[in-house]
Amino acid sequence: MRIAVIGAGYVGLTTGSCLAALGHRVRCHDIDGGRLARLARLDLPLYEPGLEDLVRRGMADGSLQFCLGLEDALEAAEAVFLAVGTPALPDGEIDLSQIIASARAIAPRLARNAIVIVKSTVVPGTCRQLADLIARERGALDIRVASNPEFLREGAAVGDFMEPDRIVIGADDVQAAKVLEEIYAPLARRKVPVLSTSCDNAELVKYAANAFLALKIGFINDIAELCERIGGDVARVAEGIGLDRRIGPSCLTPGPGFGGSCFPKDTRAFAAVSRRAGAPQALIETLIRRNEERKAHLGRRILNEAALASGDTVAVLGLAFKAGTDDIREAAALTIIPMLQKAGIAVRAHDPMAMALARRHLADVRWCATPYEAAEKADALVILTEWDDYRGLDLARIADRMAGRMLFDYRNLLPPEAVTAAGLRCIGLGRPAAPRAAEEAPSAPSAQWRGKVAARSRL
Ligand code: UDX
Repeated sequence: MRIAVIGAGYVGLTTGSCLAALGHRVRCHDIDGGRLARLARLDLPLYEPGLEDLVRRGMADGSLQFCLGLEDALEAAEAVFLAVGTPALPDGEIDLSQIIASARAIAPRLARNAIVIVKSTVVPGTCRQLADLIARERGALDIRVASNPEFLREGAAVGDFMEPDRIVIGADDVQAAKVLEEIYAPLARRKVPVLSTSCDNAELVKYAANAFLALKIGFINDIAELCERIGGDVARVAEGIGLDRRIGPSCLTPGPGFGGSCFPKDTRAFAAVSRRAGAPQALIETLIRRNEERKAHLGRRILNEAALASGDTVAVLGLAFKAGTDDIREAAALTIIPMLQKAGIAVRAHDPMAMALARRHLADVRWCATPYEAAEKADALVILTEWDDYRGLDLARIADRMAGRMLFDYRNLLPPEAVTAAGLRCIGLGRPAAPRAAEEAPSAPSAQWRGKVAARSRL
């Protein structure tokens, strides 16, 4: 099928190159001509495993083209995917101006009876709104607008596209549904479930799915806090509940609060839309608040448990919102680092991919080329991103460079025994703090301990 993709960002580029790999003839257009020129030279605007290879192959066999002109891109296209940005507005709602502008731009240029497919994440009702707009602009009713939300994780987008858990097709018209089913026929043949439903439902599925996944993360983070209070181990609890097939094991890893471009933005938009519709989502409202509180709580914990004072230094390892990306949007580092700085703490930071972007958003940080350089004279060290590089840290070398002994492992990345063996005190998430290393034992027993000893000696 001849397909046009409008917007050559993370979603558009992945969609376009994967559709080309499935056998379609795809033309991608972007309002940013410079980006298209760079793409034509195989200079991708983002790193996504496997994507460059797909783009190269598509360009080589002609199934994928980048078109500067919108007319060129739309020429004889039977289906047009809209994959432009839908950024957040200050009140949590999303800004539809890019999608409205692109619908307006394509309207007069669309081939007769083309189907417009909304890939961008949009609030329910948007497809119907765009259908009205296109009909008005064309003065004709030949164009159908359908919804086909994406469920792509950064760092796994190509795999998520090619082997999805499901494909959701939202169409209020049989012909539009048929076109989408044809586009995805190669995946349906591989037994990928396809849900065909209305546009409103498909738009809702996207928000509801992300809200539900974010709820799982928020829930396990709350369980982690409970475990810390009562001496439980969140990893075992997560395993125990995740083995229930109705719950499942994914999104049950505690962390410093979810970040990224989707979960925070989509939960806020979902909450805002629901409020506007008169059906407020109390669970989601609480989740959004709890997620912000968690980041701040974990920041305070560093200050308190390491008894830091103004003038002390903290080493932060990991700035990206998760491993495998240079994306720092809504990352815990963006809350925790300024908190530390406000308390007069000097911050030394390292990240294997995200430092270039982080420099633009964080001031007065000492950027370090290696985790060991970051650890130099640090009074405490914090891990915020689950990079594999950090799993293999030479902890003795880290300990040797640090001035203090506290290591806050906010991804439960390191075996606590290994941290203790290196002479550091490991504070993880949702598990009892590792016992202090021998030389770190408090000189005077705590009042609580003295009470226990006294009680025993009375027996
Ligand atoms: C997410 C959705 O997974 C995807 O379907 C959607 O289309 C876009 O949003 P992404 O933002 O790339 O994808 O990241 P994801 O891997 O889902 O992680 C999101 C955040 O949650 C990260 O900050 C991550 O560290 C955190 N997380 C994830 C946890 O803290 N615990 C988990 O168990 C899983």
